[in-house]
Amino acid sequence: MAIEKERRSFLGAALGLFTAAGGVGALTAMKYTWDPLPSVKAAGFTTIDLSAAEPNVLNVEKWRGKPIFILKKSPDMKKDDRDIVVGNDRFFIAIGLCTHLGCIPTYFPDQTKFICPCHGGIFDTAGRVLKAPPPKPLPIPPFKLEGTKIVLGEEGEEYKKMQAAGLTA
Ligand code: FES
Repeated sequence: MAIEKERRSFLGAALGLFTAAGGVGALTAMKYTWDPLPSVKAAGFTTIDLSAAEPNVLNVEKWRGKPIFILKKSPDMKKDDRDIVVGNDRFFIAIGLCTHLGCIPTYFPDQTKFICPCHGGIFDTAGRVLKAPPPKPLPIPPFKLEGTKIVLGEEGEEYKKMQAAGLTA
């Protein structure tokens, strides 16, 4: 009887330790994923330093109350005219609100797709619609590049060119 009780206590303690270790691991992973890129906000403009971005890890920043998706593309990801080129890197940057009814799509890095939780709309890593009901791509906010930084809210040359080519909306 006593041996059985001791065995149970040992198993309980081991399970507790295992669960605690898993919890710490999950929190560390969440902190790493959710840590925002360094950014400065001022009078409707948000400046974000892209140099710390990791490939295929979605960063979500905030600009004028809207979520902004920032995804540094890995070299094997499909190139697109909507990519924003910063130095040797390509980024997908867009307002992260589904163009159907405004839900926030979820990024699935293993599938390199954004899937909208509300009605199943799917976007690729350029924000283009792969599956309806969204009627158009995720919009690219006005931006200006300054070295490895991007200023959201200001229309720089790169943005104006994309806008003239009909790529921003
Ligand atoms: S709001 Fe995204 S598919 Fe409807």
